[in-house]
Amino acid sequence: MSFLLVVSGASRGFGQAVAVAFARSFFDSVHSSSRHSNDDNDDETRTATDDVLPQHQVRIILTGRDEFGLRETKERIIAPILSNGDDNDDETPTSASSSTDISIHPMDLSDMDTLDQHMDELIGAAKPLDRYERIVIINNAGSLGPLGKVANIKSLQEFSQAIQLNVTSSLWFTTRWVKELLTLSEQDVGLTDNNPKQAHVTPCTIVNISSLCAIEPFPTMSTYCAGKAARDMFHQSLAKEEEECHNGALKVLNYAPGAMDTDMTVKLREEDQLDTGLKEYYRKSHDKGELIHPNTSASKLVRLVLSGDFTTGTHVDYWDLPDI
Ligand SMILES: NC(=O)c1ccc[n+]([C@@H]2O[C@H](COP(=O)([O-])OP(=O)(O)OC[C@H]3O[C@@H](n4cnc5c(N)ncnc54)[C@H](OP(=O)(O)O)[C@@H]3O)[C@@H](O)[C@H]2O)c1
Repeated sequence: MSFLLVVSGASRGFGQAVAVAFARSFFDSVHSSSRHSNDDNDDETRTATDDVLPQHQVRIILTGRDEFGLRETKERIIAPILSNGDDNDDETPTSASSSTDISIHPMDLSDMDTLDQHMDELIGAAKPLDRYERIVIINNAGSLGPLGKVANIKSLQEFSQAIQLNVTSSLWFTTRWVKELLTLSEQDVGLTDNNPKQAHVTPCTIVNISSLCAIEPFPTMSTYCAGKAARDMFHQSLAKEEEECHNGALKVLNYAPGAMDTDMTVKLREEDQLDTGLKEYYRKSHDKGELIHPNTSASKLVRLVLSGDFTTGTHVDYWDLPDI
């Protein structure tokens, strides 16, 4: 199997946890199918992608502003892969660690002047897309934006910066990937009779990292709630547009990860402008250890996406899913 994973906001918090969790799961698939093919030593098991990529490749593309954080995420992905390879005498390092290719792309996704250029860079790092047998794109990057009552939002600049990152940039991130993924599917079905790839349409999942704030209003979080609602509706509309696309090969998910222990909720606990009831909720949840660990929510997301057990376009909350 060969996989592509792209994660925005992968330098810390939930994005980092998601990148590590998907990488782990993809690596386990690669590891077990590599072991089977080594056992079988059977050339007929090779797929149409093998002439282009080494067999069983995992390609991971991580983006965010903080290069140091992205490097840390890369280290967290690589460390267990290397130690796993070392632990297994029957596995050569080349079939494990060297077939996992991780690139980091520090960039500010809220800068509209450079966004398309940055998207070209990310898509260029992933291409050609017809090499993969499974593609997962995680649209995770986000910020709280201005907190406090609407009447107290200080400036158009602060307001529009938040909308640019949480709405314009996020929606454009998905748009650019969709354009590429649909071209890929069209190419695949247009191939000739004797091309073995003709029947193969790559399963692709685009995940918008959503929130309860997308579907429920919270005082003093209006800009954040509006951004999350816009993202959800955009991805729902996309799902409707493409639900018939090549027998559902492209699926879209709005995943609300629950209230997690990340920098975002540190800010919510400390922010003077936040509604006192909300602030108390985040403080108490933290003090009682009730905030969800990002790894726990990431594991649920990985299981849901890879099972495909959801309706395209749907909003799924962490609390809707069974514990692992
Ligand atoms: N934490 C929660 O309780 C919670 C609940 C529901 C939903 N969510 C959602 O989950 C996602 C991740 O949140 P989190 O809790 O992990 O937040 P976080 O710890 O603040 O991380 C946010 C991520 O977004 C990236 N980011 C922010 N501004 C960016 C920019 N201008 N350009 C590129 N990347 C940028 C950050 O990377 P850099 O700083 O390196 O740029 C970081 O990796 C968000 O979409 C959030 O809305 C979180």
